[in-house]
Amino acid sequence: MSNLKNILLNQKMDCKSIWFMRQAGRYLPEFRSIRLKHPNFINLCLNSDLSSQITLQPIKRYDLDSAIIFSDILIVPYAMGQEIDFVKNKGPKLSKFVLEKFLDNNKENFTKKLDPVYQAIAKTRKKLDKRKTLIAFIGAPWTLITYMLGVKNKPKENNMDDKNKIEKIIKNLIDYLCLHIKKQIEAGANVVQIFDSWAGLLKDLDLQKLCFLPNLSIVDFCKENKIPVICFPKGIGKKYKDFNRIVKPNGLSIDYNLNPEWAKKNLTNVVLQGGMDPKVLLESDKKIFNEAKKYLDIFKDVPYIFNLGHGIVPETNPDKLGKLIKFVREYK
Ligand code: CP3
Repeated sequence: MSNLKNILLNQKMDCKSIWFMRQAGRYLPEFRSIRLKHPNFINLCLNSDLSSQITLQPIKRYDLDSAIIFSDILIVPYAMGQEIDFVKNKGPKLSKFVLEKFLDNNKENFTKKLDPVYQAIAKTRKKLDKRKTLIAFIGAPWTLITYMLGVKNKPKENNMDDKNKIEKIIKNLIDYLCLHIKKQIEAGANVVQIFDSWAGLLKDLDLQKLCFLPNLSIVDFCKENKIPVICFPKGIGKKYKDFNRIVKPNGLSIDYNLNPEWAKKNLTNVVLQGGMDPKVLLESDKKIFNEAKKYLDIFKDVPYIFNLGHGIVPETNPDKLGKLIKFVREYK
């Protein structure tokens, strides 16, 4: 049997690999019951026993092929000195970004603060079946910047015209993100996914500079260290083709707005992943199976990892996800 790591490294087609973005999260009652007792989300991510336990919840329930470590992309800005508040229904809010403070970080302090994440990975690896992959992840620099500088909330004040400043931030972030990847792999993770969830906000030149090139630096770092890497530049439409040509990751996760037929034709020499709209899981079984069938049929003769086009939404009924998994496993 090939696992996710082998599929990515060898473009294998002889097995189905299934995992989901946000597979450990609020749609699961077993997660909600832990979360209720731990109102501070960052502290929960930094509790290695609980974080490992949460990581394994969807594996226990569905026997998925890969586990993704329970943490958050914002743990990196947190470890670099910004406080974070997860306001219910409003998304994360970060304390004011101060460039001098950000540039003044030191790596020893950073890895010390994130040590519980690495411990959680080590603990999870010990409990996880050897054949299963443990996925580490980071947020891409641009997506982190949208939260660090509050770009989405105040587009006029975000100082994006200060390109020099943004470049300095990106350069420093790449350094710390590569370190975070290295530490996660040393702790026992086998694959990395880079989330660029807000790549779709960028146009043309900015897309090159703020999305493609930073992703490329990180992918090159992974390749030098023989770490299989999946990129997820969400929302960039047909620019996925340029992304693939320039960045050349092992895997490319496609979002639900991308036409899967177009993706199959235009995104070659890469293992494709995902695509199906997570909101389909809120529909009838028939609709869910039809949609899954569409993706499985289109990608039947290329290496493909079953996943969704973004994270599982909290309103999802866990039994429906179970039915989808069974359908995908049994579909020929
Ligand atoms: O199961 C997994 O996928 C692993 C854990 C994981 C989380 N966040 C846990 C989480 C992963 C891989 C992430 C990535 C992440 N975090 C992204 C990239 C993927 C994406 O969704 O686009 C982004 C943009 C974030 C930032 C973030 N974290 C937001 C915007 C929010 C709040 C709103 C939301 O989408 O839930 C979070 C909180 C968060 N991260 C939760 C979980 C389970 C919910 C926390 C809660 O219980 O309130």
